[in-house]
Amino acid sequence: MDIRDRADCERLVRAFYARALSDPVIGFIFVDVAKLDLETHVPRITSFWETVLLGARSYGGGAFRPHAALHRRVRLRRGHFERWLVLWRATVDELFAGERAELAKAHAERVAAAFLARLASIPAPDGPAVAAAGLAVTHHGPDLP
Ligand code: HEM
Ligand code: HEM
Repeated sequence: MDIRDRADCERLVRAFYARALSDPVIGFIFVDVAKLDLETHVPRITSFWETVLLGARSYGGGAFRPHAALHRRVRLRRGHFERWLVLWRATVDELFAGERAELAKAHAERVAAAFLARLASIPAPDGPAVAAAGLAVTHHGPDLP
């Protein structure tokens, strides 16, 4: 069954985030860095896909901006985008098949490539900032005076 309506877009988006948020490669970016509020985010990204796939005009644009902001806090690398796409393709294929399902995968690849290229000119922290974002510093042993 292909993607038919907004409810299908939402189902796709929710299934994707169920994977993405618990993913060992990119999960920390959503959970620890962006502290993504899913109930705010799901309607927005559902509108994005409804606009791309179904010709709705429900998404207002500006998709790149939050990624630029994110990149300033934790460098978004090619590997992160590749992983994002692997999860996206797997989710689309698990739930849907057809022209729109193919378009969903193709458009995500175009957007990912465009984002990655645009991010290249934006400064980002290197390794340690990523580690700091993903690790909790804990204190062991007796408290010192
Ligand atoms: C039915 C046709 C299409 C629709 C409705 C559509 C819709 C959109 C929307 C809503 C965005 C987000 C724009 C923003 O946030 O400002 C976008 C981004 C993008 N689309 Fe499409 N698109 C379509 C076809 C295509 C095609 C045919 C290509 C390329 C061959 C393409 C390449 C891109 C790229 C590269 C971006 C990312 C731009 C960026 O922010 O750097 N799209 N599209
Ligand atoms: C490493 C890969 C990616 C990461 C870590 C990531 C992360 C995020 C996060 C955390 C947000 C929410 C920002 C906020 O509301 O504060 C967001 C928004 C969004 N992302 Fe991504 N993203 C990635 C790749 C992509 C790709 C490839 C697409 C293309 C389909 C995409 C499309 C969007 C859209 C449309 C929004 C909504 C922007 C808005 O609120 O208008 N993202 N992303």
